[in-house]
Amino acid sequence: MSLLEVEGLNSYYGDSHILFDIAMRVEQHEVVALLGRNGAGKSTTLKSLMGAVRPHSGRVVLDGVSIAGKAAHTIARRGMQLVPEDRRVFGSLNVEDNIVLAGLTAPKRWPLDRIYEMFPRLKERRSSRGTDLSGGEQQMLAIARALVRDPKIVLLDEPFEGLAPIIVHDLVRVCRDLAATGLTIIVVEQNIAAALNLANRAYILNNGHVVHEGVTEELRRDPSILRRHLGV
Ligand SMILES: Nc1ncnc2c1ncn2[C@@H]1O[C@H](COP(=O)(O)OP(=O)(O)O)[C@@H](O)[C@H]1O
Ligand SMILES: [Mg+2]
Repeated sequence: MSLLEVEGLNSYYGDSHILFDIAMRVEQHEVVALLGRNGAGKSTTLKSLMGAVRPHSGRVVLDGVSIAGKAAHTIARRGMQLVPEDRRVFGSLNVEDNIVLAGLTAPKRWPLDRIYEMFPRLKERRSSRGTDLSGGEQQMLAIARALVRDPKIVLLDEPFEGLAPIIVHDLVRVCRDLAATGLTIIVVEQNIAAALNLANRAYILNNGHVVHEGVTEELRRDPSILRRHLGV
């Protein structure tokens, strides 16, 4: 049994059919990239898994439990966390309060020390307000807020967007370390190089359909696949 099994997932916004029979399987410890042009349906896929968008039909099974159509907070309690594109940290709260608050309602929590071990920069900035953080620090905080709830799987929506290459490099390393300790990650990225560097396997979406699935090694070896589907 895979950690996450998705079959026949269809989602709509109003009357607009956005996702068409999406099928995915993610094993524990895997880092899976979800690639596609702007508007392909990547964010909608993550939101549909997380319950932020209610799927019209389909099967979503997380660690043996069916979660399709469940509320986001229920799905969160089952062990899934979404780090959305807009990062959503509380600007008026300091770093530590942001993390503690995120963990409050979780059935299980990481100790703060473990978070700070993963992100030493956040420890240095623990008393700084959310609004005073750099883009990279905000992204670290957004990921820390997900991790403190001890998830089985984390969905990252464009985590590297707008960040300097050196910060991206750091975050890729942290994500790899997290996967090595047993976390499962689905990452949506426009930064194809970083995504391929991080992920073992990738799905490519086009107009709400999965048009390619395979190991990232293959995509690095044969760039024509990326060219065909992403135009890069
Ligand atoms: N809240 C919304 N209401 C209506 N249409 C939306 C909404 N969000 C996204 N869409 C549309 O759904 C499609 C997929 O969007 P999205 O999942 O955000 O794509 P991606 O993340 O791959 O760029 C796009 O055509 C987009 O315009
Ligand atoms: Mg998106």
